[in-house]
Amino acid sequence: MRHLLSIEELEKKDILDIINLAIKIKKKSKHYSKLMYEKSLLMIFELPSLRTRISFETAMTQMGGHAINYYTIHSPWGVGKESIEDVGNVVSRYVNAVMTRIKDHNEIVKLAQNSQVPIINGLSNKEHPCQILGDLLTIYEKGKLKNLKLAYLGDANNNVTYSLMHACSKMGIQMSIACPQTEEFLPSEDVIRKTKTKVFKNPGDATRNADVVYTDSWMSYSIPKKEKIRRTKALKRYQVTKDLMGITKKDSIFMHCLPALREHEVTKDVIDGSKSVVFDQAENRMHIQKAIITWCLGKL
Ligand code: CP
Ligand code: NVA
Repeated sequence: MRHLLSIEELEKKDILDIINLAIKIKKKSKHYSKLMYEKSLLMIFELPSLRTRISFETAMTQMGGHAINYYTIHSPWGVGKESIEDVGNVVSRYVNAVMTRIKDHNEIVKLAQNSQVPIINGLSNKEHPCQILGDLLTIYEKGKLKNLKLAYLGDANNNVTYSLMHACSKMGIQMSIACPQTEEFLPSEDVIRKTKTKVFKNPGDATRNADVVYTDSWMSYSIPKKEKIRRTKALKRYQVTKDLMGITKKDSIFMHCLPALREHEVTKDVIDGSKSVVFDQAENRMHIQKAIITWCLGKL
């Protein structure tokens, strides 16, 4: 059994194995309808979710297994009455795998150290590996994995950006970021250096000739609502617009992990326009979850 806590910890081979498995399962999903027979996945949520929650549960159902939806607010750990170490040891006696959406990545690491079943990170403050594996599947399906130039705009000190940076570096994708040049929005120096990502102040410098333009919410789940006006002002210049898409390659695509706020990080005409693949991305979350669960359990 294997945990999936971050893209940073994966080898290129692991990434390719998971994507290839997802392609196989997506093509003939009925062939895998008993793969998770009598298997249970526990899903622990501290933060909200639409896609992760529903795609994981549907993935388990379609493979003949079962998913349990559990909120930390209802857990003795969530109310400070039990250690995460004990949670890991207890749930390992019931279920075959655990997917977590817990803010503090260190807690997920602790859980994994005390779990006898695979732990899958369904988003933490550090990374969102399941999202980016699904996105690589989408990019592959659009025929774009070779000599790819990917531009990321907006809040770059962010779980999705970090997973993208590690994935691009491992897959030989040239990634450029444009974001405000302040600590709040810049990725850490350490990850920039390690992944050799190019970082620009001017959005045009990142997007020119890009094959893929990617953005994420300016108001990630863990950012307090009172920050909205200030952050919107700071990030406004990095909104993905039709003009910016106009300097990308002719057949470029627009990606967003969702949830999106139209006219904030992206204009309506871009996200609802012909270059947008956001709903293909959302669908692929389910296909990649099947592959992730299967890979973690060492079933194929
Ligand atoms: N992209 C993503 O993870 O969506 P949810 O927050 O709805 O799960
Ligand atoms: N960066 C976003 C991703 C949402 C899927 C967040 O953390 O809320």
